[in-house]
Amino acid sequence: MLKNKQLQEWIEQMTALCQPEDVVICDGSTQEYDRMWELLVASGAAKKLNEAKRPNSYLVRSDPADVARVESRTYICSEEPEDAGPNNNWINPQEMRGTLTNLFEGCMRGRTMYVIPFSMGPVGSPIAHIGVEVSDSPYVVTNMHIMTRVGEAVLEELGEDGDFVPCVHSVGVPLIDGKEDVTWPCNPENLYIAHFPTTREIWSFGSGYGGNALLGKKCFALRIASAMARDEGWLAEHMLILKLTNPEGLSKYVAGAFPSACGKTNLAMLIPTVPGWKVETVGDDIAWMKFGDDGQLYAINPEAGFFGVAPGTGMDSNANAMLSLNENCIFTNVAETDDGDVWWEGMTDEAPEHLIDWTGQDWTPNNTTPAAHPNARFTVNAAQCPAIAEEWEELKGVPISAILFGGRRATVVPLVNEARDWRQGTFFGSIVSSEKTAAAAGKIGELRRDPMAMLPFCGYNMADYWSHWLSVGEQEGAVLPKIYYVNWFRKDDDGKFMWPGFGENSRVLEWVFNRCNGTADAIETPIGNLPTMDGINFEGLNLTDAQKAELLRVEVDGWLSEIPLINEYYDQYGDRMPEALRVELNELQQRLEEAKQAVA
Ligand code: OXD
Ligand code: MN
Repeated sequence: MLKNKQLQEWIEQMTALCQPEDVVICDGSTQEYDRMWELLVASGAAKKLNEAKRPNSYLVRSDPADVARVESRTYICSEEPEDAGPNNNWINPQEMRGTLTNLFEGCMRGRTMYVIPFSMGPVGSPIAHIGVEVSDSPYVVTNMHIMTRVGEAVLEELGEDGDFVPCVHSVGVPLIDGKEDVTWPCNPENLYIAHFPTTREIWSFGSGYGGNALLGKKCFALRIASAMARDEGWLAEHMLILKLTNPEGLSKYVAGAFPSACGKTNLAMLIPTVPGWKVETVGDDIAWMKFGDDGQLYAINPEAGFFGVAPGTGMDSNANAMLSLNENCIFTNVAETDDGDVWWEGMTDEAPEHLIDWTGQDWTPNNTTPAAHPNARFTVNAAQCPAIAEEWEELKGVPISAILFGGRRATVVPLVNEARDWRQGTFFGSIVSSEKTAAAAGKIGELRRDPMAMLPFCGYNMADYWSHWLSVGEQEGAVLPKIYYVNWFRKDDDGKFMWPGFGENSRVLEWVFNRCNGTADAIETPIGNLPTMDGINFEGLNLTDAQKAELLRVEVDGWLSEIPLINEYYDQYGDRMPEALRVELNELQQRLEEAKQAVA
């Protein structure tokens, strides 16, 4: 079965290092999936949900010390610290190798080492890449089955001499001297999620949760892939991909980067309120894009499932996600109902009378703590989403017409703003930010910059990443997507959201589509191309003309006060900072000053 020599040798090395009791090469089969659950149920980590309510689904409770990605323990071990940049934690690769060798030596004693060959992207796609994860966690095996393509077909594709990204994972709790296992083994005191972009390797120790342990997702598909993409002239992005169809039946594909917890999954599965329009899902978190022969950027979703945040997901906020979750799911750290089903905050308006919370304790609505952990997750195959686009597994990917960038901005940033060209679009991406603190009227709150929503996920210096984006725009023969900066989160002076969001965001998608189609006008403004007042379909929304104008207003003073903040932000990247973005910023300042003078 293992004809790839490099893989054979690597497994031998990992076995010698980790010293597991057994080694199992995963085949991705249903039998294997079921076997993992037998182990997880027997150990007490998992519980099968009521078969009549939620067929073939499981509830898992993690250790309360292991519930989320840990950015402070995530490292990019490039040769030089400048190559990791101020956006990453850096440790010298030789030093990290020493630390990891000590930690991994014998770390799987008494456990089974699962070897999980997986493809990020449909097997055989020219945009896809292969990884192999070794892990001592059966929970990781089950999630990798859903989130990636696992098994024989991947080994076949790898052939005798194909390349793969080696991903080494251990929960970091060897079972020695007859030590009894715990339900959720983890080792938070010795946590390391280490990436070696030069040699394209991932080593993760001490956590069994989400992005720390399912190494195909953030570690491979973003941190390592972003470095591969830089070297090879493509893009690995923290973006959803959706298919948008107009009432005439014409379809376009849109990618969108939004920081974590800004509603990417909701947007990817949106049900339009504009009559006749349709949104279908290609991906909800990550996009890999490569140029096709026609010069267009083609995107695949490298994942095969959704690892979504459960709290806040309900029939009102995301019906398509809820309908995806009827069966064959994994729920981690949600609450359990008395009839053996699941519940989380936001699933229904009222909480059930009694629950077992994510820590295993009795819970009633009088409790002051949430029943589900705020980062509780569902894992489900993307094919179960009723809105999944039929071409979501298309090997050549889907051609991208527009890219959206967005953060949570209470002030200044209008509902939608179109970049004049790729360079200005890259500038938009580089300044994406969210307000951490509530802004006082007319003031900008404290900003957390999250350029291209990649701050925690860019596997190298962010300034080099911007240079890479600029160079993609200069590729010979490129037919580039249009770029938009959107903001669903504007607030009025009373602190109330001005835009209803959710399905109503289809009104902005409609304008974007029509712009790409050459059928909508825009006004050139100092900050970019904005919709004309009748460009956005506001029909049926309870907005006054003043509110509409406010959503689309160029806040000259607000933008001017943002210029020094952006300059200061760029300063931290020193001489790695691409000149073109400074030029964009200076030109923006000039246009704003001219506009101010014209009014004065
Ligand atoms: C995620 C994230 O889990 O962005 O997708 O944090
Ligand atoms: Mn994400």
